[in-house]
Amino acid sequence: MTKTFAVIGDPIDHSLSPSIHNAAYKALGLDCTYIAYRIPRGELKAGVESLKQIKISGFNVTIPHKIEMMKFLDEQSRECKIIGAVNTVSNDDGRLVGYNTDMDGFLDPIKKRNLPINGSSVLLIGAGGAARAIIAGFAKEGAHKITVANRTKEKGQEIARFAAGLGLESDAVSLDEAGQSAGRYKFIVNATSVGLKNEPSPISTKTVNSENIVYDIVYMPMNTDLITQSKKNSARVIYGYEMLLGQAALAFEIWHNAKAPYDAMKKVLVGGF
Ligand code: ATR
Repeated sequence: MTKTFAVIGDPIDHSLSPSIHNAAYKALGLDCTYIAYRIPRGELKAGVESLKQIKISGFNVTIPHKIEMMKFLDEQSRECKIIGAVNTVSNDDGRLVGYNTDMDGFLDPIKKRNLPINGSSVLLIGAGGAARAIIAGFAKEGAHKITVANRTKEKGQEIARFAAGLGLESDAVSLDEAGQSAGRYKFIVNATSVGLKNEPSPISTKTVNSENIVYDIVYMPMNTDLITQSKKNSARVIYGYEMLLGQAALAFEIWHNAKAPYDAMKKVLVGGF
């Protein structure tokens, strides 16, 4: 019988996850299908019930449900508990088991480039669910210091405390302050949604230089203003689609217990730009 998978969130109509996973099924000849299912904020409980009713095999969780979905899990992976958010769920005969592949999916393109994280300094822009997974990833790999820059200062401070709890030296600054000092950090990461609507970079790039690695988790457009400006300043860049692929490949491996066909998944994505 065909196995069905899904991504839940709102908005969901532009999600690239169905294309990525369906490309993987095609490449491996799996009898599976993957759909996008819009569940508005506040309707998660009923949405999860309906997924169980259709015997969904597994699903990804995206904005705005990554944190709230934790309540509906029967079991949580270690990463999920540390991060406090879930992006991948498997349905084991009605038992929902939650994982977080955002953390290792984020780290994947850094590791593929052999860029050392140990002892490094990080400027992280944003303080939402994605930021927490990224902080947990940098902490796991032994980064030294994280500065959190966020529009709402209190949220930045809260996430800086979360980083301190994971053993990182941390502080919180404004977006303006971040623009003044960005060039001093090894990694500069945008974990906000700024760029998705072609907005200007969330911080000034005037100090960005060839020593920096600039990673934007916004994947559409591929060349956000932050990425474009950083390339002009000779920084190394990592694209948001690489994290998207990393987390999708890891979710695939959890569900199918087989190596993800990374190149087929990448082809459908990069071909889509
Ligand atoms: P996610 O789960 O993807 O991280 P989120 O929890 O809604 O999403 O977090 C969104 C992040 O983008 C927050 O850091 C938010 O800043 P605030 O804490 O001030 O809300 C940031 N963000 C969203 N729109 C922004 C904008 N126009 N300018 C600056 N930051 C913005």
